[in-house]
Amino acid sequence: MSKAKIAILVGSNGRGSNAKVIAQACEQEDFPAELTVCVSPVPESRFMKEAEELEINLAVVPYGDNYGDRLLAVMGHCDWVCLAGYLRLLPPQILNHFPGHILNIHPSLLPKYGGKGMYGINVHRAVIREGDEETGCTVHRITEVYDQGEIIIQRRCPVWPDDTPETLAARVLREEHQAYPEAIVKVLSGNPE
Ligand code: GRF
Repeated sequence: MSKAKIAILVGSNGRGSNAKVIAQACEQEDFPAELTVCVSPVPESRFMKEAEELEINLAVVPYGDNYGDRLLAVMGHCDWVCLAGYLRLLPPQILNHFPGHILNIHPSLLPKYGGKGMYGINVHRAVIREGDEETGCTVHRITEVYDQGEIIIQRRCPVWPDDTPETLAARVLREEHQAYPEAIVKVLSGNPE
């Protein structure tokens, strides 16, 4: 089986737990993708520390002039990009180079609690404030608009009356770790390159 080549892009404050589960899934013989490179904008983060132990190919591409071109130079040869804790909009040349082949994970059931400012603990605070009884996560394709591309997979979990944003975040994160590898398998079964 020829495996799709994946690049993971993490953010500056990356805890990197989703990157880690994708990296681990890629180690499985029957997983349809291989991890080619993991790109971080900073050389030091919680993720970068752990990544050294995972023995994955790491690249540091700081934000700044020609960011898009520099990103392309390290991941342009990949088939797919998985964003994991990456909060910025991507440069246009990345969107153009990987049309439909960029995935993101968001800690809510989109379209609820998406858009600018809706990230991390803000999302879980809003869910509790609204009194929702259910939340979850979404893996979706990236477009030029925040959190609006095609939904690939959603996983759900309950919101309990005594939840804090932190307890809820932890429950949703467990679902995220199931959802991301499942979503990769799903898109690759429809796009076998
Ligand atoms: C996750 O909650 C994900 O949904 C969001 O950013 C967070 C990243 O967590 N996009 P981690 O760095 O993968 O642990």
